[in-house]
Amino acid sequence: MKHEMKLQLKDIHTRKNTKIATILKKRFASSQLSNQDEPFWDASSYGLDKVEYFLELEENKKVQLLNELAQNRISEAFHIEKSGIAYGSKMTILSDNIDERVLYGSFTGDEARHFKLIEKYHHNTIAEDITDNSFLEFLSNTIEVAPKKSLVFMIQVLLEGWGLDHYSTMAKECKNSNLKTDLQSILEDEVVHHGSGVILFDENNLTKKEREFITHSLISFFQMVQVGPIGILAQLETMTSKFNNYNRVHALEQLNAFGSTDEKLLKLKRLMRKAGANSIIEELEAKGLLRPLDLSQMAACF
Ligand SMILES: [Fe+2]
Ligand SMILES: [Fe+2]
Repeated sequence: MKHEMKLQLKDIHTRKNTKIATILKKRFASSQLSNQDEPFWDASSYGLDKVEYFLELEENKKVQLLNELAQNRISEAFHIEKSGIAYGSKMTILSDNIDERVLYGSFTGDEARHFKLIEKYHHNTIAEDITDNSFLEFLSNTIEVAPKKSLVFMIQVLLEGWGLDHYSTMAKECKNSNLKTDLQSILEDEVVHHGSGVILFDENNLTKKEREFITHSLISFFQMVQVGPIGILAQLETMTSKFNNYNRVHALEQLNAFGSTDEKLLKLKRLMRKAGANSIIEELEAKGLLRPLDLSQMAACF
């Protein structure tokens, strides 16, 4: 049953309709401007400018790796914006009053626009299976099954808050002028999405079930954050001869994996604190989920 549902969902994400595509082309004509010739991000944006295994690569391999990492970023944003449309739609249907319905209806329109802005940079021609990426799978499952109040916290407070930070760094460091403008335009909407989540969430108003849903989901989420930038390391490894454990720990050290992961976790904690989710923070802290893994544990996550 679950397998069938997954197949149907995957189908929705990949199936095309030419008549609708023509309508969308006109509807989003102003979102189509892009310059694909300029590179997207340089090595420093991934912390690779300090990693000797990267610096030793031949020039063409460096370019190839940076292109692949940029496509991974774009692909993640593409799927996140697609999930944003599903999130806005679910919340629009579940609204209790007309103000709420208008708010979430407008968010859904924003997310559709974001999706169209990002889509043109997404060059993966083979439809990807999001189940290959544990974060994207987590996001799409959470939107489907979580109760409404749990979603306000997990999506608007935490993930959109984190997304704001991530997109603003991506925009700041972006070398492609059109993509930079598109990311800045997305950011303007995301400030409102996140800000309204902080206003609407009230930890004391959660039922036991809604609370349990949050803590249960956040355990999986924080476990994914704690492992650090192993995606970047895995991609680097495809360009070199096979890494052993020493090479991995060394590369993670030069990537500042512990420091950057610690910073991410602190940002997430600040976002939860801002929304007054104090008891949720305490529970996560007691489980040791707000600390990065040490480098040898990260290296063992391959
Ligand atoms: Fe968005
Ligand atoms: Fe959003």
